Amino acid sequence: MLKSCKVNKGLNGSLIIPGDKSISHRSLIIASLASGISEVTNILKSEDVLHTLNAMKNMGVKIEENKNKLIIYGEGLDSLKKPNKTIYLGNSGTSARLLIGLLSAQNFESTISGDTSLSSRPMNRIIEPLLKMGATINSKNGKMPVEIIGKKLKNISYNLLIPSAQVKSGIILASLNVDGKTQIIENSITRDHTEIMLKSFEADIDIKNEDERKIITVTGQKELIAKNIEVPSDLSSCAFFIVAALINKNSKLFLKNININPTRDGILKALLLMGGKIKILNKRKVNEEVVADLEVESSELNGCELGEDMSKLMIDEYPILSIAASFANSPSHFKGLKELRVKESDRLELIRHNLENCGVKCLIKDDELFIYPKDKYTIKNNKIKTDFDHRIAMSFTIMGSLLEKDLFIDDSNSIKTSFPNFVECYNKVGGNIVE
Ligand code: S3P
Repeated sequence: MLKSCKVNKGLNGSLIIPGDKSISHRSLIIASLASGISEVTNILKSEDVLHTLNAMKNMGVKIEENKNKLIIYGEGLDSLKKPNKTIYLGNSGTSARLLIGLLSAQNFESTISGDTSLSSRPMNRIIEPLLKMGATINSKNGKMPVEIIGKKLKNISYNLLIPSAQVKSGIILASLNVDGKTQIIENSITRDHTEIMLKSFEADIDIKNEDERKIITVTGQKELIAKNIEVPSDLSSCAFFIVAALINKNSKLFLKNININPTRDGILKALLLMGGKIKILNKRKVNEEVVADLEVESSELNGCELGEDMSKLMIDEYPILSIAASFANSPSHFKGLKELRVKESDRLELIRHNLENCGVKCLIKDDELFIYPKDKYTIKNNKIKTDFDHRIAMSFTIMGSLLEKDLFIDDSNSIKTSFPNFVECYNKVGGNIVE
C-alpha cells in the first residue's frame, strides 16, 4: 500500500528513468539466439524483464552480470535446450507472447505459466497464427498455462488483424527458425523494436510500406550476429514524470536519454496537442532507435480529442493521459480504446472507477472515454483499486499530487513489474509518497 500526498513546491530536477521494457525483453531473447557475445547496458531490472531473463537461462543460455552490463553468450538459432521446469512469467504479457512464438519452433516441449492477471489475458491472438504455421500448442481456452510441443514449422503469409507488437514479434521469432519466407501484413502501426533489433543483428528481414500497410518478410534459418545494445530509457515510465511536471505548478523536469521511437510516441504528440511545454532536445539514434532528452515544465493544458489512430501509438499511456486530462481546462474524448480492456487489468474500467472516486466526471461509451475536468475535486473514496496493474498504480500516485486528501494505492507492489525505483525517483524530485 502506498499513500500519495499533495505536492506543495512542484517537481524539479533531473532524472534517469530506467531502461525501456520492450527493448530489454527483446535484447535478452535476440542476443540469446545470436552467434557470439552481446553486451547489454542499462537493461531494465524489473520483475517482467527478469522473467524473460530466467526463461532464457532455463533454456541453457549463459548470461552474466558485470557492473551495469549483462553479458549474453549466444550460441545460435538452434542452441536452446529444453527447460527442466515450467517457465513462470509472472505478470508479463510481452514475455508470454514473444516466448510462445519462440518456443513453438524449437525441437523440445515446454510449458509456460503466469500470475492471476496474466492467466486471464488472451493468448489465442498468438496461438492462432502459430497453429497456421503448423505448431502444436495446448491451452485452457486460449489462456495460460500454455503447453508448447516445439517442432519444425512451415512458412505462411499472415494478415495481422489485431494491432499488437507482441503478436507480430511472436510470429517473427518463430519464423527465424522456419525454412523459407514468412510474411506478416500489418494493417496499422505497432511498435517496431523487434524489426529494428533483428536488422542490427543481421537477420534477413525485409520491410515494405504499401499504402497503409506494412509488409514484413523474414527469411528464416539465417544466422544472427551478436551485437552490443545500449537500452535507452523507457518513454512509458517517463510519461508519469512528464505529466506530473505538466500538471503541478512551479515544476521543471529534465529527463535524459528517452526512447522516442515514432511507432510509440503518441503520448508526446497528445500532450503537445494539449499545450504541454515539452522540449525534445538532442535527438539522436542509438542502435537505430530514436532517443532524445526531454525538458518539461508546468503548463496550462487544454482538453483534446484523440482518434483511434492515436491509440495504436500510445496504448499503455491512457491511464496517465487521463490524469493529465483531469487537470485540463476543457473536456477530452479518446477513441479506439478496445485493447485497454485486455491489458494487465481492464484499464478502461479502472480509469473510470478510480477517476470517479477522485471526483472526476467521466464516461465510457463502447470503446471511447470522455473526461470532464473541474477546478476542484471532492474525493468520494480515497482508496485506489489497481487489480495489480502497475500503470494504474503509478498514474493515480500522480493524481494524488494535486488532491487535498491523500490517496491510498492498493497492491502497489505491482509497480516492480516495470519501474522498481519509481517511488525513489518521484520523491527525489519533490514527490510526496509515503510507503
Ligand atoms: C509491448 C506491446 C504492447 C504494449 C506492451 C508492450 C511490446 O502490447 O501494450 O506493454 O513490448 O511488444 P500489444 O502489442 O499487445 O498491444
